[in-house]
Amino acid sequence: TEETLVLVKPDGVARGLTGAILARIEAKGYALVDIRLVEPDRDLLAAHYAEHEGKPFYEPLLEFMLSGPSVAIRLAGNRVIEGFRSLAGTTDPTTAAPGTIRGDFGRDWGLKVQQNLVHGSDSLESAARELGIWFS
Ligand code: GTP
Ligand code: MG
Repeated sequence: TEETLVLVKPDGVARGLTGAILARIEAKGYALVDIRLVEPDRDLLAAHYAEHEGKPFYEPLLEFMLSGPSVAIRLAGNRVIEGFRSLAGTTDPTTAAPGTIRGDFGRDWGLKVQQNLVHGSDSLESAARELGIWFS
């Protein structure tokens, strides 16, 4: 069965939303295969976000991701990659649809990066790569 990497990012952990986010994932019927609290270092994040190196939001993104622990989840289920991204909503939390994690819990805080609560792998290839990074 398909697997994906989900992160509850530092804003979600700091705001005490981990449980609410996990409840939505479980209610959707996906299986928690592994879960851990991770304090990533810069090297881990540079590997995870390699595709964004050089973009204007790259440095703020790494600073944000270094600001506190994230909860890393190995999540399984049929079509879980697209299913979780649908649960999460679009990248910008201000306009993410109500009913999604980002739409219900997120907004623009006036910072240089979108603090959008969660990450979900966007393809089979990304999922394999990212699971190797966060669960090595
Ligand atoms: P992830 O599931 O976290 O990968 O989100 P995504 O796939 O919806 O977005 P993407 O991979 O394109 O970007 C990774 C992260 O960089 C996002 O979740 C945001 O935190 C941040 N980000 C992406 N695009 C922008 C942008 O245009 N402006 C700002 N300020 N932040 C961005
Ligand atoms: Mg992405």
